[in-house]
Amino acid sequence: MTRVLSGIQPSGEIHIGNYLGAIKQWVELGERLGREAFFCIVDYHALTNPLAYDPATLARRTFEAALVNMAAGLNPEKVTLFVQSHVPEHTELSWVFTTLTPLGDLTRMTQFKDKAAKQEAVWSGLLMYPVLQAADILIYKADTVPVGEDQVQHIELTREIARRFNALFGETFPEPKALLNPEAPRVPGIDGKAKMSKSLGNTIGLLEDERSIWEKIRHLPDDPQRIRLADPGDPERTIVFTYLSYFAPKELVAALKEEYRKAGIGTLVVKRILFEELMKTLRPIRERAEELKKDPDYVMDALLEGAKRARAVAAATMEEVREKVGL
Ligand code: ADP
Ligand code: NA
Repeated sequence: MTRVLSGIQPSGEIHIGNYLGAIKQWVELGERLGREAFFCIVDYHALTNPLAYDPATLARRTFEAALVNMAAGLNPEKVTLFVQSHVPEHTELSWVFTTLTPLGDLTRMTQFKDKAAKQEAVWSGLLMYPVLQAADILIYKADTVPVGEDQVQHIELTREIARRFNALFGETFPEPKALLNPEAPRVPGIDGKAKMSKSLGNTIGLLEDERSIWEKIRHLPDDPQRIRLADPGDPERTIVFTYLSYFAPKELVAALKEEYRKAGIGTLVVKRILFEELMKTLRPIRERAEELKKDPDYVMDALLEGAKRARAVAAATMEEVREKVGL
């Protein structure tokens, strides 16, 4: 692994699914790779549903996404953290890649099919989303992409695009690999749905109000087959234990599971412990966020500095691509 890239959409509040699936790994990789770790707030991606974003708040959300990432431990003085649209070469490369991508490869993407099924009008930006993502990654010639499981299919497409480009125009791009957090590749939503996602409104936000978080935890679905407190419970049948395993020490999780199976404890007790353990992770992030909010210029300057470094790399790749393609 020599260079990583990953991104996050400024399309809503950053949540524990983003943190566990992506950001936590970013922080670790940033420590190891420094400036070779590229992370971007993908605002072009957030445009892919014009009805779901508000032009007046997009810039604020982009800023907040950067701030939350810094609060969660990404040090912009070490890594390369930037805003996607500050490096317009992403869209330029993306166009070249659309000309190399069969339509069928895009219409079969699971995320496209899921999102398109919910929309009355399907915007072509939604269809092209994975092509832009391929450009985000390949413009830096990144070999590793730390993401959640939902993105694995898109990374596979990125590899195909790289292979096709290399076959047609000569060896240019690496074939990057997805890197998952084995402990939390896909965090379920608070509604029990398979995936927590900004667009599904089933999230626990990293900076969400404590009371609001507790209310969400309190209402998490219990083991549906445990009717009375005296019934033995099955920890595999409630996401309370799934969440607990992300934040609590292993021994504590094992002990609580055992009690739950013996009907020794109710779910409410486990929920209280989950809340406490979760807040142990979230409190320091909030404290850093409060500090950063006092100094917005620091955040903005860091992003501009990051974009400068990113753009130097992106422009060099684009020059190479133009020459190879004949532009
Ligand atoms: P969202 O789906 O909430 O809009 P993004 O598309 O911005 O999130 O994804 C940012 C990163 O967070 C990606 O690497 C994605 O795979 C990861 N991610 C998003 N939701 C989850 C989840 N529920 N579990 C694990 N990782 C996730
Ligand atoms: Na997503």
